[in-house]
Amino acid sequence: MTDNQTLTVRDNRTGEEYELPIVDGTVRAADFGKIGKGEDTPGLAVYDPGFLNTASTRSAVTFIDGDKGILEYRGYPIEQLAENSTFLEVAYLLIHGELPTQEQHEKWVHEITFHTFVHENLKSQLQGFRYDAHPMGMLLSSVGALSTFYPEARNIHDPKVRHDQVVRLIAKMPTLGAWSFRHAQGKPYVYPDNDLSYTENFLSMLFKMSEQKYNPDPRLAKALEVLFILHADHEQNCSTNAVRAVGSSQVDPYSAVSSGVAALYGPLHGGANEAVLKMLKRIGTPDKIPAFIEGVKKGDEKLMGFGHRVYKNFDPRATIIKKAVDDVFEVTGVNPLLEIAQELERIALEDEYFISRKLYPNVDFYSGLIYEALKFPPEMFTVLFAIPRTAGWLAQWLELVDDKEQKIARPKQIYTGDRQLEFVPAAKRWS
Ligand code: CMC
Repeated sequence: MTDNQTLTVRDNRTGEEYELPIVDGTVRAADFGKIGKGEDTPGLAVYDPGFLNTASTRSAVTFIDGDKGILEYRGYPIEQLAENSTFLEVAYLLIHGELPTQEQHEKWVHEITFHTFVHENLKSQLQGFRYDAHPMGMLLSSVGALSTFYPEARNIHDPKVRHDQVVRLIAKMPTLGAWSFRHAQGKPYVYPDNDLSYTENFLSMLFKMSEQKYNPDPRLAKALEVLFILHADHEQNCSTNAVRAVGSSQVDPYSAVSSGVAALYGPLHGGANEAVLKMLKRIGTPDKIPAFIEGVKKGDEKLMGFGHRVYKNFDPRATIIKKAVDDVFEVTGVNPLLEIAQELERIALEDEYFISRKLYPNVDFYSGLIYEALKFPPEMFTVLFAIPRTAGWLAQWLELVDDKEQKIARPKQIYTGDRQLEFVPAAKRWS
């Protein structure tokens, strides 16, 4: 590395040269704006649909090295957190930036546990949905509706107010998610049980029937804990970018997080594991896999659960999930779709199409199989992603609120439409 951390740009239209500083491997897009800027001409802009090579923020929350398959939360490798931590401890780490002391941990768990109940009127709102409403639609609207119950949440510059909403959101997401699930089944909503851990309580709200107390299988609660840790944050992905973009208007965190839920709903993001399961069911038997792969290569459809914008070698979360698959199937019995998934993976990983494009299984390829074994319908899979990701969205939102460099998100465009047309009123155009 030389000391000369600058980029020299020569504008061949004018012959002028510009020296732009390079900081942290980036140049400021605003510096390009000085190039070629005249009284009537705009400066140069950068064009980057999908933000393929544009950093939108500085962040100390999550580190990813896509080529090496590294994922770290606040510097801690995901493998160590998944093996040795709990979801609530990881949520604390993401939100506060460091691991809790015993006292801080006890206080945090107590706070989250005692904010799991939601206002009864919100229950009425959920009950108003059609019997077959998609739980993600119910979740995103109920998260947004929370802002009406906590109007003080709009005071985003008050640290105490921010903390209260962070606790409420992390605490209430499982309740809202579980109630969306019960709704589709026509079953009564189950109230939180404060004696249980975060994932045990979630399982109780999902599956409790007439028993006095629901006792979840600890192996399933642990598997869910691992899945929640893996999904807790993933730096500047589509939904986090949505939370940051909406949050940049200084709206309350419920509204910002509901935009994250909306972004996660899409099949290219959190909806992928639901799509994987539907795909595996459609393939049906291993002998149909070669024809399916040919269709993918012809561009008829995508191999869902494969490929990633950042990971071009392997997705470390997929490796951990593959291990969790065995633990869950020990309790639930093997999901027959596993055979199709494994064969599909084997064939794809040997195929030039996938090798040359660096397409590997991502986190969603196997998570759907686990969720199905846990008796979740596919519509619930994205809800299971949104609950833990709330911790990451909030960590990123807190960072945004305190970041003096951030402004309201407002990208530029390259205008391609007509100009200066003469309007002819409808009565004349249609006569
Ligand atoms: N099946 C078949 N071809 C694919 C796939 C796939 N799953 N993913 C990418 N490609 C091809 C794509 O057609 C393109 O080919 P070509 O160069 O011939 O045009 C090439 O690979 C590069 O793909 P891209 O679409 O430019 O890559 P991207 O970084 O824009 O998209 C992605 C990343 C995850 C949206 C994409 O790989 C995809 O759609 N995968 C399937 C959906 C999926 O599993 N999503 C879950 C992502 S992980 C969970 C999360 O973080 O939300």
